[in-house]
Amino acid sequence: MTNIDTPLTNADFSQRSAQATTSDQFRLRWSLRSMSGQALTIAEVQSLCEAGRWAPSCFNSQPWRFVYALPDTPQWQPLMGLLMDVNKLWAAKAGALVALVARTHFEANDAPAATHSFDTGSAWMSMALQAQHMGLAAHAMWGFHHDQAADALKLPEYFSTQALIAFGHPAPAEALPDPLREREVPSSRKALSELMFNGDMG
Ligand SMILES: Cc1cc2nc3c(=O)[nH]c(=O)nc-3n(C[C@H](O)[C@H](O)[C@H](O)COP(=O)(O)O)c2cc1C
Repeated sequence: MTNIDTPLTNADFSQRSAQATTSDQFRLRWSLRSMSGQALTIAEVQSLCEAGRWAPSCFNSQPWRFVYALPDTPQWQPLMGLLMDVNKLWAAKAGALVALVARTHFEANDAPAATHSFDTGSAWMSMALQAQHMGLAAHAMWGFHHDQAADALKLPEYFSTQALIAFGHPAPAEALPDPLREREVPSSRKALSELMFNGDMG
């Protein structure tokens, strides 16, 4: 385990200054693209999914499911094949891919579960922070072929793919192809004053 208050790489965090006191794990988490290609172990993937498992959800419905694949296994290509080319370019060096799938309807009565995406987003963030804790990169992707996901992942009725996530061992930015290399920098955020409202937004 690494210290969660330690950056994963020597990236330039100058665009990320804190505006209030909080754990540094939030400011230091960022979506690296440069990964080494080293496969994660199944124990590491289990640790990431275990973090997701403990996320909160409406009625404790736990709508998330984790469909994973490791490099050089038969499961890898179906998941990798779902990615748009712009993501394949760098995610090919991930150490694991995880499709974050949500049950869109409650298991109890098959009624629509309005919060399935919100709940599954909580699981993603837990996994991302767990990755950071393990010294691993985590990068969520919406850029995949949504129309092909249900078939490729053999999803049962009522399941929908929320995102694909690339996890991996960080590599230097220099290992990325040209257009991506210069974008390999932790991004900024809106000012806290633009986001906080006392009582209403009027
Ligand atoms: C749901 C979701 C989908 C995303 N899809 C993509 C994607 O398809 N490709 C990509 O390179 N980054 C993707 N990202 C990464 C975001 O661009 C990134 O999180 C955002 O710019 C903030 O940067 P940070 O995560 O480094 O703090 C996605 C992030 C989220 C949360």
